[in-house]
Amino acid sequence: MKKIAMLTGGGDCPGLNAVIRGVARKALVEGCEVFGFRNGWAGVLKGDYFPLTRERVSGILHLGGTILGTSRTNPTDEQLDTLVKHLKSMDLTALVAIGGDDTLSVASRLHKRGVPVIGVPKTIDNDIDGTDQTFGYDTAINIATEAIDRLHSTAESHSRVLVVELMGRQAGWIALGAGMAGGADMILLPEFPMSLAEICKIIKQRQAGGKNFSIVAVAEGFKLGGVEIMATKELDAFGHVRLGGIGEVLCREIEKTTGIESRGVVLGHIQRGGTPSAFDRVLGTRYGVKAVDLALKGEFGKMVALRGTEIVGIDIDSILTEVIDTKTGKPKLRVRNRCVPQELYDVAKVFFG
Ligand code: F6P
Repeated sequence: MKKIAMLTGGGDCPGLNAVIRGVARKALVEGCEVFGFRNGWAGVLKGDYFPLTRERVSGILHLGGTILGTSRTNPTDEQLDTLVKHLKSMDLTALVAIGGDDTLSVASRLHKRGVPVIGVPKTIDNDIDGTDQTFGYDTAINIATEAIDRLHSTAESHSRVLVVELMGRQAGWIALGAGMAGGADMILLPEFPMSLAEICKIIKQRQAGGKNFSIVAVAEGFKLGGVEIMATKELDAFGHVRLGGIGEVLCREIEKTTGIESRGVVLGHIQRGGTPSAFDRVLGTRYGVKAVDLALKGEFGKMVALRGTEIVGIDIDSILTEVIDTKTGKPKLRVRNRCVPQELYDVAKVFFG
Protein backbone atom coordinates (compact mmCIF):
# COMPACT_ATOMS: atom_id res chain seq x y z
CA MET A 1 0.00 0.00 0.00
CA LYS A 2 1.20 3.52 -0.79
CA LYS A 3 2.12 5.62 2.22
CA ILE A 4 2.09 9.41 2.47
CA ALA A 5 3.44 11.19 5.54
CA MET A 6 3.45 14.89 6.29
CA LEU A 7 4.81 17.41 8.76
CA THR A 8 4.41 21.10 9.51
CA GLY A 9 7.57 23.09 10.31
CA GLY A 10 8.44 26.65 11.34
CA GLY A 11 6.05 29.24 12.74
CA ASP A 12 2.41 28.21 12.67
CA CYS A 13 0.15 29.82 10.13
CA PRO A 14 -3.59 29.98 9.40
CA GLY A 15 -4.50 27.38 6.77
CA LEU A 16 -2.11 24.63 7.93
CA ASN A 17 -5.02 22.40 8.90
CA ALA A 18 -6.63 22.98 5.51
CA VAL A 19 -3.45 21.66 3.85
CA ILE A 20 -3.25 18.69 6.25
CA ARG A 21 -6.89 17.83 5.52
CA GLY A 22 -6.34 18.33 1.77
CA VAL A 23 -3.33 15.99 1.69
CA ALA A 24 -5.02 13.41 3.89
CA ARG A 25 -8.39 13.34 2.13
CA LYS A 26 -6.89 13.17 -1.37
CA ALA A 27 -4.39 10.47 -0.32
CA LEU A 28 -7.12 8.42 1.40
CA VAL A 29 -9.34 8.66 -1.70
CA GLU A 30 -6.38 7.35 -3.72
CA GLY A 31 -6.12 4.37 -1.37
CA CYS A 32 -2.98 5.46 0.52
CA GLU A 33 -2.16 5.15 4.19
CA VAL A 34 -1.54 8.59 5.70
CA PHE A 35 0.66 9.61 8.63
CA GLY A 36 1.50 12.84 10.40
CA PHE A 37 4.80 13.57 12.17
CA ARG A 38 4.54 15.59 15.37
CA ASN A 39 6.35 18.94 15.74
CA GLY A 40 8.13 19.28 12.41
CA TRP A 41 11.57 17.75 11.88
CA ALA A 42 11.75 17.03 15.64
CA GLY A 43 9.05 14.38 15.14
CA VAL A 44 10.90 12.77 12.24
CA LEU A 45 14.10 12.65 14.31
CA LYS A 46 12.26 10.84 17.10
CA GLY A 47 10.18 8.68 14.76
CA ASP A 48 7.14 10.29 16.38
CA TYR A 49 4.18 9.90 14.02
CA PHE A 50 0.56 8.76 14.05
CA PRO A 51 -2.03 7.70 11.47
CA LEU A 52 -4.17 10.41 9.94
CA THR A 53 -7.51 8.77 9.36
CA ARG A 54 -10.57 10.38 7.81
CA GLU A 55 -11.92 10.74 11.36
CA ARG A 56 -8.73 12.44 12.62
CA VAL A 57 -8.80 15.14 9.93
CA SER A 58 -12.52 15.79 10.31
CA GLY A 59 -13.61 19.17 11.71
CA ILE A 60 -10.20 20.86 11.36
CA LEU A 61 -10.62 22.97 8.21
CA HIS A 62 -11.61 26.12 10.08
CA LEU A 63 -9.11 25.75 12.93
CA GLY A 64 -6.00 27.92 13.32
CA GLY A 65 -2.61 26.42 14.18
CA THR A 66 -1.71 22.87 13.22
CA ILE A 67 -3.04 19.60 14.61
CA LEU A 68 0.45 18.15 14.03
CA GLY A 69 2.28 20.69 16.15
CA THR A 70 5.35 22.48 14.83
CA SER A 71 8.91 23.44 15.75
CA ARG A 72 11.87 25.31 14.32
CA THR A 73 14.12 22.24 14.59
CA ASN A 74 16.98 22.57 12.09
CA PRO A 75 18.66 19.18 11.59
CA THR A 76 22.45 19.10 11.61
CA ASP A 77 24.25 17.05 8.95
CA GLU A 78 24.46 14.09 11.37
CA GLN A 79 20.77 14.46 12.22
CA LEU A 80 20.00 14.48 8.52
CA ASP A 81 21.39 10.92 8.41
CA THR A 82 18.92 9.95 11.14
CA LEU A 83 16.07 11.60 9.24
CA VAL A 84 16.98 9.73 6.05
CA LYS A 85 17.23 6.44 7.99
CA HIS A 86 13.84 6.90 9.68
CA LEU A 87 12.07 8.00 6.52
CA LYS A 88 13.54 5.20 4.39
CA SER A 89 12.63 2.60 7.02
CA MET A 90 8.99 3.69 6.74
CA ASP A 91 9.06 2.94 2.99
CA LEU A 92 7.15 6.12 2.23
CA THR A 93 5.73 6.91 -1.18
CA ALA A 94 6.22 10.56 -0.31
CA LEU A 95 6.85 12.98 2.52
CA VAL A 96 4.90 16.24 2.25
CA ALA A 97 6.83 19.01 4.03
CA ILE A 98 4.56 21.96 4.79
CA GLY A 99 6.64 24.96 5.80
CA GLY A 100 8.46 28.15 4.99
CA ASP A 101 11.90 28.78 3.54
CA ASP A 102 13.66 26.88 6.34
CA THR A 103 11.49 23.74 6.20
CA LEU A 104 11.65 23.73 2.40
CA SER A 105 15.45 24.07 2.48
CA VAL A 106 15.65 20.96 4.70
CA ALA A 107 13.21 19.19 2.34
CA SER A 108 15.53 19.92 -0.55
CA ARG A 109 18.55 18.54 1.36
CA LEU A 110 16.55 15.35 1.99
CA HIS A 111 15.51 15.10 -1.64
CA LYS A 112 19.19 15.20 -2.65
CA ARG A 113 19.66 12.20 -0.30
CA GLY A 114 17.00 10.22 -2.15
CA VAL A 115 13.96 10.95 0.04
CA PRO A 116 10.79 11.44 -2.05
CA VAL A 117 9.66 14.88 -0.83
CA ILE A 118 7.06 17.40 -1.95
CA GLY A 119 7.02 20.93 -0.47
CA VAL A 120 4.05 23.17 0.35
CA PRO A 121 4.87 26.90 0.81
CA LYS A 122 3.57 28.23 4.12
CA THR A 123 4.05 31.59 5.80
CA ILE A 124 2.08 34.66 6.78
CA ASP A 125 5.12 36.64 5.50
CA ASN A 126 4.34 35.75 1.84
CA ASP A 127 8.05 35.88 1.10
CA ILE A 128 8.73 32.54 -0.62
CA ASP A 129 10.05 32.80 -4.14
CA GLY A 130 8.41 30.80 -6.95
CA THR A 131 4.79 31.19 -5.85
CA ASP A 132 2.48 34.17 -6.28
CA GLN A 133 1.16 33.67 -2.76
CA THR A 134 1.70 31.54 0.32
CA PHE A 135 -1.28 30.43 2.38
CA GLY A 136 -1.64 32.32 5.67
CA TYR A 137 -0.86 35.71 4.17
CA ASP A 138 -4.47 36.52 3.33
CA THR A 139 -5.62 35.81 6.90
CA ALA A 140 -2.75 37.85 8.37
CA ILE A 141 -3.54 40.92 6.30
CA ASN A 142 -7.24 40.62 7.07
CA ILE A 143 -6.49 40.63 10.80
CA ALA A 144 -4.03 43.51 10.44
CA THR A 145 -6.46 45.49 8.28
CA GLU A 146 -9.13 45.20 10.95
CA ALA A 147 -6.62 46.48 13.52
CA ILE A 148 -5.76 49.49 11.32
CA ASP A 149 -9.48 50.21 10.82
CA ARG A 150 -9.90 50.27 14.59
CA LEU A 151 -6.85 52.48 15.15
CA HIS A 152 -8.34 55.21 12.96
CA SER A 153 -11.04 56.25 15.41
CA THR A 154 -8.77 56.42 18.44
CA ALA A 155 -6.01 58.23 16.49
CA GLU A 156 -8.52 60.80 15.26
CA SER A 157 -10.19 61.30 18.66
CA HIS A 158 -6.82 62.07 20.29
CA SER A 159 -5.14 63.83 17.33
CA ARG A 160 -2.28 61.35 17.53
CA VAL A 161 0.12 59.52 15.28
CA LEU A 162 -0.39 55.77 15.65
CA VAL A 163 2.45 53.56 14.51
CA VAL A 164 1.42 49.93 13.97
CA GLU A 165 4.22 47.37 13.72
CA LEU A 166 3.52 44.34 11.55
CA MET A 167 5.36 41.04 11.08
CA GLY A 168 7.08 39.82 7.94
CA ARG A 169 10.79 39.51 8.71
CA GLN A 170 12.87 41.07 5.89
CA ALA A 171 9.85 41.33 3.57
CA GLY A 172 7.19 44.02 3.74
CA TRP A 173 4.21 42.10 2.33
CA ILE A 174 2.05 42.20 5.47
CA ALA A 175 2.62 45.91 6.10
CA LEU A 176 2.00 46.61 2.41
CA GLY A 177 -1.21 44.57 2.15
CA ALA A 178 -2.74 45.67 5.45
CA GLY A 179 -1.50 49.24 5.05
CA MET A 180 -3.10 49.56 1.62
CA ALA A 181 -6.35 47.85 2.63
CA GLY A 182 -6.57 49.79 5.89
CA GLY A 183 -5.78 53.15 4.31
CA ALA A 184 -2.60 53.80 6.35
CA ASP A 185 -1.14 57.26 5.72
CA MET A 186 2.35 55.87 5.36
CA ILE A 187 3.73 52.36 4.83
CA LEU A 188 7.34 51.63 5.75
CA LEU A 189 8.93 48.50 4.32
CA PRO A 190 12.37 46.89 4.63
CA GLU A 191 12.69 46.94 0.84
CA PHE A 192 12.30 50.74 0.58
CA PRO A 193 14.33 52.83 3.05
CA MET A 194 12.99 56.22 4.16
CA SER A 195 14.65 58.69 6.51
CA LEU A 196 13.10 60.03 9.70
CA ALA A 197 13.14 63.51 8.15
CA GLU A 198 11.08 62.30 5.15
CA ILE A 199 8.63 60.43 7.39
CA CYS A 200 8.11 63.45 9.64
CA LYS A 201 7.77 65.81 6.67
CA ILE A 202 4.86 63.75 5.30
CA ILE A 203 3.16 63.70 8.72
CA LYS A 204 3.59 67.48 9.15
CA GLN A 205 2.28 68.15 5.62
CA ARG A 206 -0.74 66.00 6.36
CA GLN A 207 -1.33 67.98 9.55
CA ALA A 208 -0.95 71.27 7.68
CA GLY A 209 -3.55 69.99 5.19
CA GLY A 210 -6.10 69.67 8.02
CA LYS A 211 -5.66 66.02 9.09
CA ASN A 212 -5.12 65.90 12.83
CA PHE A 213 -3.97 62.26 12.92
CA SER A 214 -1.80 59.82 11.00
CA ILE A 215 -1.59 56.05 10.84
CA VAL A 216 1.83 54.63 10.02
CA ALA A 217 2.10 50.91 9.11
CA VAL A 218 5.68 49.75 9.65
CA ALA A 219 7.10 46.33 8.85
CA GLU A 220 9.17 44.81 11.67
CA GLY A 221 12.15 44.61 9.31
CA PHE A 222 12.12 48.33 8.40
CA LYS A 223 15.50 49.89 9.12
CA LEU A 224 15.49 53.44 10.48
CA GLY A 225 18.80 55.02 9.49
CA GLY A 226 19.97 51.61 8.29
CA VAL A 227 19.53 50.01 11.74
CA GLU A 228 17.54 46.81 12.19
CA ILE A 229 15.72 46.71 15.55
CA MET A 230 15.73 43.33 17.26
CA ALA A 231 13.67 41.99 20.15
CA THR A 232 16.69 39.88 21.12
CA LYS A 233 20.12 39.27 19.62
CA GLU A 234 19.76 35.51 20.08
CA LEU A 235 19.52 33.55 16.85
CA ASP A 236 16.93 30.83 16.34
CA ALA A 237 17.88 27.33 15.10
CA PHE A 238 17.94 28.55 11.50
CA GLY A 239 20.11 31.58 12.33
CA HIS A 240 17.32 34.18 12.22
CA VAL A 241 17.32 37.14 14.62
CA ARG A 242 14.01 37.89 16.36
CA LEU A 243 12.84 41.24 15.01
CA GLY A 244 10.61 43.63 16.95
CA GLY A 245 10.63 47.11 18.45
CA ILE A 246 10.83 49.36 15.38
CA GLY A 247 7.26 50.62 16.02
CA GLU A 248 8.14 51.94 19.46
CA VAL A 249 11.46 53.46 18.31
CA LEU A 250 9.78 55.17 15.38
CA CYS A 251 6.92 56.43 17.50
CA ARG A 252 9.33 58.08 19.98
CA GLU A 253 11.35 59.67 17.15
CA ILE A 254 8.24 60.96 15.36
CA GLU A 255 6.92 62.54 18.57
CA LYS A 256 10.31 64.13 19.29
CA THR A 257 10.67 65.55 15.77
CA THR A 258 7.10 66.63 15.00
CA GLY A 259 5.84 67.44 18.49
CA ILE A 260 2.69 65.38 17.74
CA GLU A 261 1.68 62.94 20.47
CA SER A 262 2.35 59.40 19.19
CA ARG A 263 1.66 55.83 20.24
CA GLY A 264 3.04 52.50 19.08
CA VAL A 265 0.99 49.31 18.64
CA VAL A 266 2.52 45.89 18.08
CA LEU A 267 0.13 43.39 16.56
CA GLY A 268 2.50 40.44 17.10
CA HIS A 269 1.28 36.86 17.03
CA ILE A 270 -2.36 37.90 16.73
CA GLN A 271 -1.53 38.08 13.00
CA ARG A 272 -0.82 34.36 13.03
CA GLY A 273 -3.45 33.01 15.37
CA GLY A 274 -7.02 31.88 14.92
CA THR A 275 -9.27 30.83 12.11
CA PRO A 276 -8.03 31.05 8.49
CA SER A 277 -9.79 33.21 5.90
CA ALA A 278 -11.90 31.53 3.21
CA PHE A 279 -9.15 32.33 0.69
CA ASP A 280 -6.48 30.56 2.76
CA ARG A 281 -8.75 27.54 3.34
CA VAL A 282 -9.26 27.19 -0.42
CA LEU A 283 -5.59 27.83 -1.28
CA GLY A 284 -4.44 25.39 1.43
CA THR A 285 -6.88 22.74 0.21
CA ARG A 286 -5.72 23.14 -3.40
CA TYR A 287 -2.07 22.98 -2.32
CA GLY A 288 -2.72 19.80 -0.30
CA VAL A 289 -4.52 18.01 -3.13
CA LYS A 290 -1.87 19.05 -5.68
CA ALA A 291 0.91 17.82 -3.39
CA VAL A 292 -0.63 14.32 -3.46
CA ASP A 293 -1.12 14.51 -7.25
CA LEU A 294 2.60 15.23 -7.65
CA ALA A 295 3.52 12.49 -5.16
CA LEU A 296 1.48 9.85 -6.99
CA LYS A 297 3.04 10.87 -10.31
CA GLY A 298 6.49 10.50 -8.74
CA GLU A 299 7.35 14.18 -9.26
CA PHE A 300 9.56 14.55 -6.21
CA GLY A 301 11.71 17.50 -5.20
CA LYS A 302 8.86 19.80 -6.24
CA MET A 303 6.97 22.51 -4.38
CA VAL A 304 3.34 23.31 -5.13
CA ALA A 305 2.91 26.93 -6.18
CA LEU A 306 0.23 29.40 -7.19
CA ARG A 307 0.90 30.89 -10.62
CA GLY A 308 -1.89 33.22 -11.64
CA THR A 309 -4.97 31.13 -10.90
CA GLU A 310 -3.29 27.74 -11.44
CA ILE A 311 -1.64 25.45 -8.91
CA VAL A 312 1.53 24.01 -10.41
CA GLY A 313 4.58 22.03 -9.28
CA ILE A 314 7.99 23.73 -9.50
CA ASP A 315 11.46 22.36 -8.72
CA ILE A 316 12.52 23.38 -5.22
CA ASP A 317 16.06 23.60 -6.62
CA SER A 318 14.95 26.42 -8.93
CA ILE A 319 14.27 28.70 -5.94
CA LEU A 320 17.42 27.96 -3.94
CA THR A 321 20.21 30.47 -3.48
CA GLU A 322 23.57 30.29 -1.71
CA VAL A 323 23.84 32.28 1.52
CA ILE A 324 26.29 32.34 4.43
CA ASP A 325 24.96 30.53 7.48
CA THR A 326 24.93 33.12 10.30
CA LYS A 327 25.62 30.39 12.86
CA THR A 328 28.46 28.45 11.21
CA GLY A 329 29.84 31.11 8.83
CA LYS A 330 29.73 28.48 6.05
CA PRO A 331 27.85 28.76 2.74
CA LYS A 332 24.53 26.93 2.52
CA LEU A 333 21.59 26.71 0.14
CA ARG A 334 18.29 28.23 1.18
CA VAL A 335 15.02 29.27 -0.43
CA ARG A 336 15.17 32.75 -1.98
CA ASN A 337 13.09 35.49 -0.38
CA ARG A 338 10.48 37.21 -2.51
CA CYS A 339 10.43 40.95 -1.84
CA VAL A 340 7.79 43.60 -2.49
CA PRO A 341 8.35 44.90 -6.04
CA GLN A 342 8.78 48.59 -6.84
CA GLU A 343 5.56 48.77 -8.89
CA LEU A 344 3.39 47.72 -5.94
CA TYR A 345 5.16 50.09 -3.57
CA ASP A 346 4.62 52.90 -6.11
CA VAL A 347 0.85 52.26 -5.96
CA ALA A 348 0.93 52.35 -2.14
CA LYS A 349 2.96 55.59 -2.18
CA VAL A 350 0.21 57.45 -4.04
CA PHE A 351 -1.74 57.43 -0.76
CA PHE A 352 1.03 58.60 1.59
CA GLY A 353 0.21 61.78 3.49
O1 F6P B 1 7.86 33.88 9.74
C1 F6P B 1 6.68 34.12 10.42
C2 F6P B 1 6.88 35.04 11.59
O2 F6P B 1 5.64 35.27 12.18
C3 F6P B 1 7.61 36.37 11.26
O3 F6P B 1 6.76 37.29 10.64
C4 F6P B 1 8.09 36.76 12.62
O4 F6P B 1 9.22 37.60 12.55
C5 F6P B 1 8.47 35.44 13.22
O5 F6P B 1 7.73 34.45 12.56
C6 F6P B 1 8.20 35.34 14.70
O6 F6P B 1 8.70 34.14 15.15
P1 F6P B 1 8.33 33.47 16.55
O7 F6P B 1 7.02 32.78 16.40
O8 F6P B 1 9.44 32.50 16.77
O9 F6P B 1 8.24 34.55 17.57
